[in-house]
Amino acid sequence: MVNKAIRQQLELLLQSGIKEIYPPVDKRGQQLADLALEYQNCQKCELSQGRTKLVYGEGNPGAFIMVIGEGPGASEDLSGRPFVGKAGELLTKMLAAINLSREEVYIANIVKCRPPSNRNPLPEERLACLPYLLEQIAIIQPRMLLFMGLVAAQTMLCSSESMGELRQREHLFQNIPAFVTYHPAALLRNPNWKHGAWADLQQFEKRYYQLRDGS
Ligand code: URA
Repeated sequence: MVNKAIRQQLELLLQSGIKEIYPPVDKRGQQLADLALEYQNCQKCELSQGRTKLVYGEGNPGAFIMVIGEGPGASEDLSGRPFVGKAGELLTKMLAAINLSREEVYIANIVKCRPPSNRNPLPEERLACLPYLLEQIAIIQPRMLLFMGLVAAQTMLCSSESMGELRQREHLFQNIPAFVTYHPAALLRNPNWKHGAWADLQQFEKRYYQLRDGS
């Protein structure tokens, strides 16, 4: 009896043009989750040797904005999540200052495993890991990129320019508008750079509204 009533209800819904009763699982989110699982035992470079957890990335799989850092630090290595230590706290505040939450952007890094003593990732480590990031970008299809710090910016833009030069203008990465600002860890070490970072973020926010609203 109940089954018959449910079937009738479903038929009515289908007749009215509704093709799926439950919202479809977010395919991009599922894809990213599957890939994070697939890569967790990656051995493509030496960084895997010192790894506790691979830090794949997190956030909105349909994000308009993708934030790209350098690589996990100690807290990230332990938790498996990007930007959760002191630098992460500042990143959260930087995003909040331009009215963005961590949940609405997607956060990832150039390398997914922690470099020893937080040194810069070596060229071969960046190269080995880059396909994972490119794959994330292809899945998420962000409309804007924000590179945090010199390592992220130089790697993504294949550039040897300084921060001063890179911050000055909008870039394109695979046709996606891309912006450069200071890495939050660098801001914690050099608070006098916060002025410049604030200017970068304001510029970024302005472009965000333009691109989002098509103005
Ligand atoms: N610094 C980064 O670049 N990425 C992290 O995830 C944490 C610190």
